[in-house]
Amino acid sequence: FLKPVLPPDIRAMKGKAPLVMVTAYTTPVARLADPHCDMLLVGDSLGMVLHGLPSTIGVTMEMMILHGRAVVRGAQKAMVVVDMPFGSYEEGPEQAFRNASRLMVETGAVAVKLEGGQHMAETIAFLTARAVPVMAHIGLTPQSVNTLGGYKVVGRGGEADRLMADARAVKAAGAFSVVLEKVPEGLAGRITAALSIPTVGIGAGVHCDGQVLVIDDMLGLFTDFRPKFVKRYAELGKAADAAIADYAAEVRARSFPGPEHSFPDELPAKGQK
Ligand code: KIV
Ligand code: NA
Repeated sequence: FLKPVLPPDIRAMKGKAPLVMVTAYTTPVARLADPHCDMLLVGDSLGMVLHGLPSTIGVTMEMMILHGRAVVRGAQKAMVVVDMPFGSYEEGPEQAFRNASRLMVETGAVAVKLEGGQHMAETIAFLTARAVPVMAHIGLTPQSVNTLGGYKVVGRGGEADRLMADARAVKAAGAFSVVLEKVPEGLAGRITAALSIPTVGIGAGVHCDGQVLVIDDMLGLFTDFRPKFVKRYAELGKAADAAIADYAAEVRARSFPGPEHSFPDELPAKGQK
């Protein structure tokens, strides 16, 4: 039985070892990733990656709970963090607590993640004071795609000071860690140096305390678009395409199923072949 990772362990890793995180949405993928990762993120990216939504805006609590539960079943050691979906926390601290506690109780996940900096600090403080560990998410916050006007780099020029202030605010509010998404690498390094909690980067350069990627992106399974920050460690989409093409050809040629996949009408008598 492995001792599960908890938020204080994640904080304690700052300055010692890089933090490894990937998204997971299902039990089998959680089982595959668990031995290699410190944290598994049930990201609301599942709306786009698994459910074909155009953005993360249509993701619901029910979707997060269903996938969160599946991931918790497959995780033994890695800490499971569940994203709070759009609309489930922005009204205020009470609404956020109601939904964060639901995510924890109904999935068994250890922590939640929510998007926003200074304007979410009060909510983060309310949650952390009530035993909800919070991972913050600043920089590019995809749930704000309609107000941001796209998925652009956040933190260049005059935006750098605002992002540093966001980072300090979520830390002061009690977040145990913060995701930096699509932030210029120098600024991400300065934020990492300025904070006593670990930063986890996605498209934020090598100076962050850890890294996170969307699993379907890194495995080459989600190919609708490919941000610059994605590295494909495998081409499972291509492998799956070839496999399905072979299957289809063999069915059409009646070469599948073979006798080894079929059941004879009579079992061979004992002692005979
Ligand atoms: O939803 C998600 O997968 C995320 C990561 C990209 C950090 O929030
Ligand atoms: Na997310």
